[in-house]
Amino acid sequence: MQKRRIAEGVHWLGAVDWNRRLFDALMPLPDGTSYNAYLVRGSKMTVLLDTVEPTVVDRLLAQLADVERIDRVVAHHAEQDHSGSIPVVLERYPEAKVVCTPKCREMLGDLLHVPENRFETVEDGEILDIGGRTLEFLHLPWVHWPETMGTWLREEKILFSCDLFGSHFATSDLYAREEARVLEAAKKYYAEIMMPYRKAITKHLARLEGYDIGTIAPSHGPVHDRPAAILDAYRDWAAGEPRNEVLLPFVSMHGSTEKMVLRLIGALADRGVRVRPVDVSVTSVGKLAAEMVDCATIVIGTPVVLGGAHPTAAYAAYLANALKPKARFVSVVGSYGWGGRAIEQIDRLMPSLKLETLEPVVCKGDPDEEALRAVDDLAERIAAKHAEAGLAS
Ligand code: FEO
Repeated sequence: MQKRRIAEGVHWLGAVDWNRRLFDALMPLPDGTSYNAYLVRGSKMTVLLDTVEPTVVDRLLAQLADVERIDRVVAHHAEQDHSGSIPVVLERYPEAKVVCTPKCREMLGDLLHVPENRFETVEDGEILDIGGRTLEFLHLPWVHWPETMGTWLREEKILFSCDLFGSHFATSDLYAREEARVLEAAKKYYAEIMMPYRKAITKHLARLEGYDIGTIAPSHGPVHDRPAAILDAYRDWAAGEPRNEVLLPFVSMHGSTEKMVLRLIGALADRGVRVRPVDVSVTSVGKLAAEMVDCATIVIGTPVVLGGAHPTAAYAAYLANALKPKARFVSVVGSYGWGGRAIEQIDRLMPSLKLETLEPVVCKGDPDEEALRAVDDLAERIAAKHAEAGLAS
């Protein structure tokens, strides 16, 4: 793909990676991804914003074939999907300096061995006049790592936001035109990458309200030339109230736990509470993470095996603890054969979440009517807690 024009003197460069299926050796990419770089030309300087994953650097170099000089390479983020080709670009453009935060300079030294004399660090709010165009650098720590920043191109009202507002969504569209699909991919991306830092994200969103943003150009997925949709979605995901919704990650070996799960789904639905059951023995990390964004309650369904919770259920609890969703309540349902400590184990796996525990329901063997009525009672308590908190669906 060639350079693509966004505005006079402002182009998208980079690579659409249609076939990538895993990111960070962890997150599934059902729709591929893209590594977006941008070229901004002023009368005094030409600036490249970010680079690409090193495996596709040839595509970036081909797009730069007619660019004789690059004065600055802005490194918004040290992660290698954006920074990994900086050494190749610096070799090709010996006059170029890397513009980044002081923390990013340290990390690029560690990760890529970029020489000290190639850096030009910038403070938060620092301006670079490139001739008829003004770049303002905004330190945005924790949009994904601690060293991250964005760039505001004042005259064109473009925010180059790096990972923030991005999506793992390979598309031939330059702009986000399939809005529902893009937002779904962006939500998954938010859940996997941004959710653990939602307090920092909320602060950054408030700051960005002071900017009259016309276009958001992220480092993954399509460009948002109608930015209200992604901005509103982020405000909701990061700072909005959780929904009247229960996430139910479950696993069942011989059907007893599943009977309790099915009873809980019905009992919650009868009480007007939306349920998102996710069988963790077959689901993807991305699906589970995305379903965590809105839920007010997490109920983990697990049998006892190997003396504790099923490993896949334990993984769901571990993941919730790491991703820090805005859920408020937690419980467990499940069955055991002769003993074990599933509940204590699930509890121990979620120390970062300040969740109120609603009394779990566990039964020995196949759940009898009494056990199933206890599941109904749990549904009643969840519905009451959600109603008390005034949560909307
Ligand atoms: Fe797309 Fe955190 O790198």
